[in-house]
Amino acid sequence: MRTIAHISDLHFGRHNLNVMEDLVTSIAGMDSDLVVISGDFTQRARHAEFAEARLFLDRISSPKLVTPGNHDVPLYNLFSRIFRPFRNYDRYIAPVDQRLSFYEDDELAVLALNSARRFTRKNGRLSHRQIADVARIFEALPSERFKVIVTHHPLAVPSGQDSLELAGRASDALRAIANTGIHLLLSGHHHRAISGPIADVGASGSILIVHAGTAISTRTRRGAANSYNLIKINHRSISVSVMAWGQGTGFVAADAATYVLEAGRWKSSRA
Ligand SMILES: [Fe+2]
Ligand SMILES: [Fe+2]
Repeated sequence: MRTIAHISDLHFGRHNLNVMEDLVTSIAGMDSDLVVISGDFTQRARHAEFAEARLFLDRISSPKLVTPGNHDVPLYNLFSRIFRPFRNYDRYIAPVDQRLSFYEDDELAVLALNSARRFTRKNGRLSHRQIADVARIFEALPSERFKVIVTHHPLAVPSGQDSLELAGRASDALRAIANTGIHLLLSGHHHRAISGPIADVGASGSILIVHAGTAISTRTRRGAANSYNLIKINHRSISVSVMAWGQGTGFVAADAATYVLEAGRWKSSRA
């Protein structure tokens, strides 16, 4: 079994310090095999915000896999945005480099794809090359390895949920993902903690997608708490617990769902 703590949309610069301390405590108690952080580390891609994000990362001892979000690209400094959009991210968080955005052990393979773009403002996109890399990287792996892709901008919404803005070329990417036998997608951006199977893509069976809420920022959706996802993967069974923050309680499991892959289809059973 493998446990992933899936954190997103920290937005340092617009964060709540108490919630951040509770998050560090909660993550330390989970003993996760991997901590995934799916972008929007900062509010405005400033040095001071990235420096705070770096201090936060250094307090997490588990292996980490990270990818930037649209807020990690400078918005107002046009020179930086055009000529060096990931300079601060590279310096403080991790180089934007696919070779470094991959985690693998004997059960799990996780690839993070950078969907943040300098010219698309808040909407992201994948490149043709990134989509081609999905098949190239995962097809070489043993078929029993559980395969996961992380993007900041979601590639789909769970069936039955309201539509949300998706990454550019999401449908091309989904086709490649389905054809490559990838089981799980993780994303952030919309600050909504939702999960579920997505509608079938072609004849290639179903894919599960998990969106994360905002972990520590004050940019919560109306009525939603700060949260992160605790994901347990046991062969073809996945449980997703939304760990929601409350004053005095810290992060506690507020909602849980279990999904089982049967005959190529994800079936859900809410706890
Ligand atoms: Fe965000
Ligand atoms: Fe975002």
